[in-house]
Amino acid sequence: MTQTATATKTLVLPDAQTVTSVTHWTDRLFSFRVTRPQSLRFRSGEFVMIGLMGDTGKPLLRAYSIASPNWDEELEFYSIKVPDGPLTSRLQHIQPGDEIILRPKPVGTLVHDALLPGKRLWLLATGTGLAPFASLMRDPETYEKYDQVIMMHTCREVAELEYGRQLVEGLKTDELIGEMVEGKLLYYPTTTREAFHHMGRVTDNLSSGKVFADLGIPGPMDPATDRAMICGSLAFNVDLKAILEGWGLREGANSEPAEFVVEKAFVGDGI
Ligand code: FAD
Ligand code: A2P
Repeated sequence: MTQTATATKTLVLPDAQTVTSVTHWTDRLFSFRVTRPQSLRFRSGEFVMIGLMGDTGKPLLRAYSIASPNWDEELEFYSIKVPDGPLTSRLQHIQPGDEIILRPKPVGTLVHDALLPGKRLWLLATGTGLAPFASLMRDPETYEKYDQVIMMHTCREVAELEYGRQLVEGLKTDELIGEMVEGKLLYYPTTTREAFHHMGRVTDNLSSGKVFADLGIPGPMDPATDRAMICGSLAFNVDLKAILEGWGLREGANSEPAEFVVEKAFVGDGI
């Protein structure tokens, strides 16, 4: 269910932005859009600190990837609902017209600048790790820089893939980048705990060669042409990094671009 509103309320919080729409995808996942500070410039894939005013009068802030592309007039976020999570137990109840705090200082490693030029870009995510790639998949620069973009997203259940599925589906008819995306973006969603047309962990589908066979593309990854961005739980990131390094790819950073970059989708073991 999506709710929308026009932002007219007076802003009272420091660094306040107004919620313009909220969509609940499952009992554990929701997305929302807020007004964008006029001064905020960011690179698609970066994250900012957002939150609400805490009971003690101090802001309660958490890192959030910006899920919208850098050309968008608003900012979009894709969020978990942690039942007893200090922030998300409250954030999940926001409504259009409410205010959130947004510190306008974007940072992060999942950016084009941290990768050397290449031909194929792999976006590899579990759960809300999709968020930075929701930004990058909607950025024309992604398709200017690469011949092929492959989005692999794995969740336990089918319903958890729906935000990403609708986003990719919408890209095909998008006025700005529909034509650029056509034939270039390959989407490979999988589940691990509910029947779906493609199943299995990202790690297993890469190691076994299944994803290359299913998509009809050459494998494994080649450090000369393949670039990758990784965003998931710590265990996912560690396992995937080992696979990519086994294929000769090296981890890069803003200061030293290389063949792949990694960022944690959250800190902790997951819920
Ligand atoms: P916390 O006390 O922060 O977390 C409680 C526990 O919940 C954690 O220990 C962990 O086990 C689990 N958990 C927290 N976040 C997640 C998650 N996203 N998926 C699965 N389990 C989780 N969260 C988002 O929902 N969307 C984002 O785009 C996002 N981007 C992030 C970017 C970075 C660089 C980092 C470090 C974290 C990001 N997070 C994101 C996680 C976010 O910062 C918070 O942890 C989350 O909003 C929960 O806040 P909380 O206060 O309710 O619970
Ligand atoms: P699985 O169901 O086999 O554990 P979670 O909800 O625990 O954060 O997991 C999200 C998705 O990431 C699940 O599909 C899960 O698969 C998968 N996953 C968890 N750990 C890893 C890992 N170390 N490597 C690859 N995929 C993982």
